[in-house]
Parts: sequence; structure tokens; C-alpha cells
Amino acid sequence: MLSSVPPAAVWLLSIMALSGAWSHHGHAGDRQDGDSVETAPERTGNELVDRCNLCHGDKGQSDTSDIPSIGGFTGFAIMELFNTYRLGLRKARSLALPGGTETNMEEVVNSLSEEDEWTVSAYFSKQRWRPPEQPFDANLAALGAQIHEERRDNCHHDGGRDPEFDLPITAGQWREYLVAEFENFDNGRRKMPEKMKRKYDTLTAADKRAIIELYVSAGKYRE
Ligand code: HEC
Repeated sequence: MLSSVPPAAVWLLSIMALSGAWSHHGHAGDRQDGDSVETAPERTGNELVDRCNLCHGDKGQSDTSDIPSIGGFTGFAIMELFNTYRLGLRKARSLALPGGTETNMEEVVNSLSEEDEWTVSAYFSKQRWRPPEQPFDANLAALGAQIHEERRDNCHHDGGRDPEFDLPITAGQWREYLVAEFENFDNGRRKMPEKMKRKYDTLTAADKRAIIELYVSAGKYRE
């Protein structure tokens, strides 16, 4: 266990905090609309899921632009993404939970039993993928769609909108989060599967910007 704080204590703190006032201040970066949210995430009756939703938002629909939405991913994709943390393929960012305790995805994953993993994965796979409204440049997104189609190598179908069985949905994800993950791929903080890396490494910085625009548009660049 990497954490100096036992995860059970972290969860207990966070669940206790759920019954009190919840504020996003200092929790997870800037909100895009500048509002502050003072409401607690909805309780689902499932303690495990409530822990995830503290960061990922109600039903895994993130209202925080630097935290990914996960509601609507397939269960298997979520299990695969857990593995990327478990195998150290990805460095997790620590965030302060209400009460001030910091934790991150690596600690979260290490605190889950296999049964817990199936429980949370099943829950999020039953939720609807609901992209937030984000401004985008339709021409750049259209260019991104062309580049994406040439290079995606039979993954990330339909401009990243398809909830593929082993991949995250990328279309309609928050811009800030996508930009940060592309940077992590660029600087090696996040490792890619070999098949993806071969294609990714052919992209210029301009290609990447166009592909991010495609994803942010959630397919709406065609309308
Ligand atoms: C402390 C806040 C926090 C908690 C609690 C948390 N997550 Fe995360 N999660 C993040 C952040 C931030 C990222 C992305 C950046 C990173 O890896 O640090 C992430 C990434 C993920 C990803 C990968 C998404 C993608 O597109 O690659 C999945 C899946 C995920 N979380 C599921 C869960 C589940 C399920 C739970 C509950 C068991 C949970 N998370 C609890 C903050 C959190």
C-alpha cells in the first residue's frame, strides 16, 4: 500500500463529509463556468460508488473540467483503466477531498477488492454518457476527424463516441482533461499500448490539437 493514510480512513472521512456541506473550492481545479457548487453529490445508496462520485460527479458525469466523466464507459473499459493505474502505466494526480485528505486514483484502485471493482464498473456502465456543453472550433474538429480516421487503426470508432468494450469514451470528454492527458502521453507520464503509440507518434502538435477539437465537439461539428 503506497498511501500513508489507510484508504478506509480516507473513505470514512469522505463519506462523513458527504453529510455536511460540500464545496468544490480547492478540490479539483477551475470550474469552466466560474460557478461554485455547494451541493453534495447525490447519494446512490452504494457507498463505493458515492466515493467515486465525490470526484467524478453524480452518475460519473463530471462537472469539473480536469476530472474525466466515466458514466457510460463499458464495465470492461473501467476494469482496464484500473489496471493502467495498478500496473503503474499512469501517474495519478492527488486531489483534496472534503476534510482536506488527499487521495488519487492509484490509492483508490489499490483500496478496491476485485468484487468492488466489478460493483463500481457495473454501476458506471449503466449510466448515460452525457457530454457537457463546451465551445469548439467546427473547422478544426472536421480536420481532426479526417486525421483521426486515417490514424486511429480500428480503435476509437465514430470519432471516439463509441463506448468500446475496452476503451474510454473520448468524444465529449472535458477539454482540460484531454489536453492534460495528451501532454501526459507526450512526456511519457502516461504509457500507451504499443498499437496506439505507433499511430500517436506520427501525429504533429497541430494534428493533436485538431483531434482534441474533434473529441471536444462530441460529433457536433457536423451539425
Ligand atoms: C480523489 C478523486 C478521485 C476519486 C475518489 C476517484 N477518482 Fe477516478 N480519477 C480521478 C482523476 C483526477 C482521474 C484522471 C487523472 C488521473 O489519473 O489522476 C481519474 C481517472 C479515472 C478513470 C480513467 C478515465 C479515463 O478516461 O482514462 C477511471 C475509469 C476512474 N477514474 C474511475 C474511478 C472510480 C470507479 C472511482 C471509485 C471507485 C474513482 N475513479 C474514484 C479522480 C478520482
